[in-house]
Amino acid sequence: MQKTSRNFFLFLSQNKTLNKSAKRWGFNLGAAKVVAGESIESAMDTVLSLNRKGILAAVDHLGEFVSSEQEAKEAAEHCLRTLEAVDRCGADCYLSLKLTQLGIDIDRELCFQFMKEILEKAASLQLFVRIDMEDYAHCQPTLDMLKRLRKEYDNVGTVIQAYLYRASDDIDDLKGVPLRLVKGAYKEDDAVAWQDKKQIDANFLNIIKQHLTSGSYTAIATHDHRIIEEVKNFTAEAGIPADQFEFQMLYGFRTDMQEALAQEGYRFRTYVPFGNDWYSYFMRRLAERPQNVSFAFKGMFSK
Ligand code: FDA
Repeated sequence: MQKTSRNFFLFLSQNKTLNKSAKRWGFNLGAAKVVAGESIESAMDTVLSLNRKGILAAVDHLGEFVSSEQEAKEAAEHCLRTLEAVDRCGADCYLSLKLTQLGIDIDRELCFQFMKEILEKAASLQLFVRIDMEDYAHCQPTLDMLKRLRKEYDNVGTVIQAYLYRASDDIDDLKGVPLRLVKGAYKEDDAVAWQDKKQIDANFLNIIKQHLTSGSYTAIATHDHRIIEEVKNFTAEAGIPADQFEFQMLYGFRTDMQEALAQEGYRFRTYVPFGNDWYSYFMRRLAERPQNVSFAFKGMFSK
């Protein structure tokens, strides 16, 4: 049943017609509980209130899979404006973005130029930029782009997904690069990815330990308390310095645990998505956790 609902929501997440209609519906289906509004201002209000609780943030202007150069350009401009807003507010926050939002499927060179412009601006403001990892088809292109960018900029990193068989090799290859490690959110074929939760969890822990012991900065992004406990024990036993890793969770999820981790003295960051292109992001969250369906419908009717 859980697998069926996961596949159903992942299928919906890819539906372009529903995605377009969702932008017209505005916030609905409970999305407002996991998306920090549609404007930069509302996102910054959320970020600053997190900062006041000792929580760091990563903002993401939602959007993916654009279909024209013009849309990619607008997305790049949005990224630049978001960086400026972070700087203006003095927020402790970095930027997360997706390469399909910046047109990697349309023109890789143009996407590279947009990334350079964004990283240049971020460097001038001493800000970091994280390239989110998308579906498997974009994994190698994303890593190629990252390596090209890292030759000129050190304020950029990406994400490695534990469900991919290749994850450990990629971690080896990216020693020294600040990485966010996640289980993986897309529907992937068993030719490239584990399908079984136990295997994914085991590989998740393996790659976390692998990146930490190589001395590289590691962001462990999960709502899974069992993984978090294991990481706490491992870092204490292995003597990993507290400033070499951080925990991350998504805005609106396990808020009590987010605050508790920050209060315990761990570096903790909340990923704060905003903007009107919330549909696919929201559907992936429903796919991950069927209980979020009741969460969503409560949101819908409490409006
Ligand atoms: P999972 O969903 O496997 O849950 C494990 C257990 O934790 C559950 O069985 C339950 O016991 C508990 N639990 C989980 N959520 C709970 C809740 N809300 N309340 C109570 N208990 C709960 N993916 C990707 O492919 N590319 C990316 O770039 C990113 N980026 C990213 C950033 C950040 C900050 C996060 C947190 C996640 C991502 N992801 C991602 C998504 C990631 O790959 C993954 O799909 C989700 O985090 C879900 O997996 P979890 O590790 O959270 O636990």
